[in-house]
Amino acid sequence: MKTTIREVSKFVDQEVKIGAWLANKRSSGKIAFLQLRDGTGFIQGVVVKSDVAEEVFTLAKTITQESSMYVTAVVQKDERSPLGYELLVKDIELISDSTDYPITPKEHGTEFLMDNRHLWLRSRKQHAVMKIRNEIIRATYEFFNKEGFVKIDPPILTGSAPEGTTELFHTKYFEEDAYLSQSGQLYMEAAAMALGKVFSFGPTFRAEKSKTRKHLIEFWMIEPEMAFYTQDDSLKVQEEYVSFLVQSVLENCKIELKTLDRDTSTLEKIQAPFPRISYDDAIKLLHEKGFDDIEWGDDFGAPHETAIADAYDKPVFILNYPTGIKPFYMQPHPDRDDVVLCADLIAPEGYGEIIGGSERIHDSELMKKRMEEHNLPLSAYEWYLDLTKYGSVPHSGFGLGLERTVAWISGVDHIRETIPFPRLLNRLYP
Ligand code: 4AD
Ligand code: MG
Repeated sequence: MKTTIREVSKFVDQEVKIGAWLANKRSSGKIAFLQLRDGTGFIQGVVVKSDVAEEVFTLAKTITQESSMYVTAVVQKDERSPLGYELLVKDIELISDSTDYPITPKEHGTEFLMDNRHLWLRSRKQHAVMKIRNEIIRATYEFFNKEGFVKIDPPILTGSAPEGTTELFHTKYFEEDAYLSQSGQLYMEAAAMALGKVFSFGPTFRAEKSKTRKHLIEFWMIEPEMAFYTQDDSLKVQEEYVSFLVQSVLENCKIELKTLDRDTSTLEKIQAPFPRISYDDAIKLLHEKGFDDIEWGDDFGAPHETAIADAYDKPVFILNYPTGIKPFYMQPHPDRDDVVLCADLIAPEGYGEIIGGSERIHDSELMKKRMEEHNLPLSAYEWYLDLTKYGSVPHSGFGLGLERTVAWISGVDHIRETIPFPRLLNRLYP
């Protein structure tokens, strides 16, 4: 019966045929242990000399790393293996051999691995991270569908720059300036006025000059937008959504979390509601902790975010940032004009900001004023201003960065391992 490693539990004590690659191998006189992978998982194949034809045992001893083959074997329960099963090999048919595979079981430097990203993806750790990324994507669709959101795809080529003009990717094609999208938000606001509760899930681009473990140049963002929702209503959606992601990964990626040695006790605590702290109090907290380098009005750097997050064992919302360090579209606080109705969600364990969100301005005059203050070319935003003219309503939304969320839940140190082919400062290959 032809099957996959993922499905072997259905075939205990039966003979199966699996297409696989050799991940690793060790052998002694009369026995060879093949670490096999087929994309769906990893399993050990045991080849006993007395059990197979002579040429099969010779092949098992000489087959090279990443050679491909069909393995015929009997599935056996095995308590010691992470999967719970192993294969007692009866036959091996070589499909293609692999010579001098560059990524050997020894340690390699990061640049070397990044140059070989197309092959590095096959390794056990990278496989686990991609499976967790996939589960977060799957759970995202499940969550927003069950909550009655409509998926809307904003354009990738745009004439507007919602998050400021310093990190734009210019393209030359249209008569006017066109950029790769840095956020679909403004379009999602239009969509929310048409469909009520909407979410997008797509690639976004930031020509970031920073080289940190949290920044990609191309990353994926989930951007929900909700008509008639206040910022408080939106925070509830955010904490429910993030809890749902974490609990889905805990439930459906047990083997992967084990492969990554992820401490799951910290993840089990991630249940709504999440703590909230105002920007003002966060500044006070930092001063109490001895950070003299930050003043009211400054944006937080990575060490500040980590220090704030360390005060909690769940993600924490930092509320109401100074107007001056946030984009033009955020609704002012009703009682004071120096802060806006917004929140960033900071993940625990030093993973930093995973969500940015806010209530949006819905007053036409105020919106125009704020755009002028930000020197935005009103002609490119006429359509957006229309939204404030025709039955404008309070509305709120947020953006969750997929890769930072994958990094946190998987427990990997650097964002480059959370996307199949990362685009970083000075990296376009492979
Ligand atoms: O905080 P940001 O810039 O917010 C927006 O773009 C809003 N328009 C979203 C909205 O309200 N619809 O980005 C949102 C999230 C960040 O919290 C972070 O997780 C991620 O996107 N992000 C990045 N991830 C990887 N690399 C980068 N360079 C990122 N920049 C932002
Ligand atoms: Mg932000």
